[in-house]
Amino acid sequence: MSLLLSIRDLSIEAGSARLVDGLSLDVAAHERVGLIGESGSGKSITGLAVAGLLPRGLSAGGSVRLAGKEVVGAPERVLDGLRGRAVAIVFQEPLTALDPLMRVGRQVALPLARRAKRDRASLSRRALDGAVEDLLAEVALPEPRRIARSYPHELSGGQRQRVAIAMALACRPDLLIADEPTTALDVTTQGEVLALLNRLVAERGMALLFIGHDLAVVSQAVDRLVVLQRGIVTETGPTAEVLGAPRHPYTQSLVAAARRFDAALGWPA
Ligand SMILES: Nc1ncnc2c1ncn2[C@@H]1O[C@H](COP(=O)(O)OP(=O)(O)O)[C@@H](O)[C@H]1O
Ligand SMILES: [Mg+2]
Repeated sequence: MSLLLSIRDLSIEAGSARLVDGLSLDVAAHERVGLIGESGSGKSITGLAVAGLLPRGLSAGGSVRLAGKEVVGAPERVLDGLRGRAVAIVFQEPLTALDPLMRVGRQVALPLARRAKRDRASLSRRALDGAVEDLLAEVALPEPRRIARSYPHELSGGQRQRVAIAMALACRPDLLIADEPTTALDVTTQGEVLALLNRLVAERGMALLFIGHDLAVVSQAVDRLVVLQRGIVTETGPTAEVLGAPRHPYTQSLVAAARRFDAALGWPA
């Protein structure tokens, strides 16, 4: 198995505060890995560091190798080549990815046109419109043509997240980072978007780094879990093992919380 992502001893600092410390994590091609931990444990900034998207004021040390290229300290030119094709991100809040003033179809067309340019393929306006509709249909949006003509505010939260997923898929990334992709959605929609992500990852053979605080959700999407507590990895292992026999007290408390949640919903443990 080839390693698509290899993080070694990653540290992320804000001034003198160390937010992530000594984090190592591998994702092989086609592998699905979950990064879990409570709010503020450093999951999102780790995901951003992988794509070279850390906000100003945060600095990374250590090594993040993505598709064979070093990301930490890489110039924008290198990062630009990786974004979209090696890695794409879906965020918790779909409006983060969408421009409120641009029709959905045009927004989805932008990364598709970029991909065509990258592949030196010529794409007529009509072919581009068709590709947009195909992509919207692939994320199971009803009436893709109507959706393409809509503005983001005319769609529901679940539909917007499907559009954001379509945009992330447009450049055919090898690795999809999904950062709490269902957290902002109501429970029914959450299940639908999770099922969609699972299907797309399987069909496209993408690797997945699924970030979340909710073990019950994340464990449905991944083969292996990495548990983060205050910026430090406390436990890693196959999903079934970590869920079935968590070793670290912190993981035990996460598993117990997920069990209580399932029980409250009347789901089997
Ligand atoms: N731009 C920033 N500047 C300073 N600190 C930040 C910034 N972004 C996040 N942090 C801090 O980094 C820590 C981890 O944040 P984050 O990765 O968003 O956590 P999680 O996604 O696990 O909830 C938190 O303590 C947060 O306050
Ligand atoms: Mg987060």
